[in-house]
Amino acid sequence: MTHTAIVSALHDELASVLALMPDEHQQVVGGREFWVGHLHGQDVVAVLSGIGKVAAATTATLLIERFGVKRIVFTGVAGGLGSGVQVGDVVLARSFLQHDMDASPLFARHEVPGYGRARFDAAAGLTDALELACDRMLHTLPQQLGAETVAAFGLQAPRLHQGLLISGDRFVATTAESAALQRELPDALAVEMEGAAFAQVCHDFGVPLAVVRTISDRADDTAHMDFPRFLREVASRYSGAVVEALFSNR
Ligand code: ADE
Repeated sequence: MTHTAIVSALHDELASVLALMPDEHQQVVGGREFWVGHLHGQDVVAVLSGIGKVAAATTATLLIERFGVKRIVFTGVAGGLGSGVQVGDVVLARSFLQHDMDASPLFARHEVPGYGRARFDAAAGLTDALELACDRMLHTLPQQLGAETVAAFGLQAPRLHQGLLISGDRFVATTAESAALQRELPDALAVEMEGAAFAQVCHDFGVPLAVVRTISDRADDTAHMDFPRFLREVASRYSGAVVEALFSNR
């Protein structure tokens, strides 16, 4: 049976995944709590990614080497960069880049030394399956969130975007930095702090990776506003619903 890792960026998201697992038990490795169990009869390991690229790379490596996972599904939140990528929308990564990688002039800007490339791809098949799950989730979930939450965050018609997700060890919370990232990487849809690290490790080990991120903010001067409430009321519900849709589909 396929052995899948479900990685959450946030406690609220992990809690909604654990609520779907009937028989999980905890194993602590490297200071991380791994939850080993089942979801719709499939073997899964659920864990928090840790924040930032180093924590994420360590978690990814442990999932592969210690727990033997054969594929990794990551859910979390991100700041929207692309025009039209709004709070409450969902971004499905088709490729990843570390926006703070800069070994120039020895290597091209953003190129990861030793890899001859800046961009890493998501696994097409797994990401296609996650796309179907996102579509199903987006059709049903906003109605279940409640009118007050929908109005507070403007979630009337959330959209699914697919493309480049960028990662770096910075919470982007100024309009100036967000504008600079958009200038430098015009096709970047959203920014977060872990996805590209997972992608590099998954590339090293040949493990398929799919990443979905709910847009929690626009990575601008207002990025911190209502963040905890968004995580509690929206992001955790999105990730629980998308994981449920992914696993109940097969
Ligand atoms: N995760 C959610 N919002 C983010 C932002 N603005 N920058 C980096 N990571 C994020």
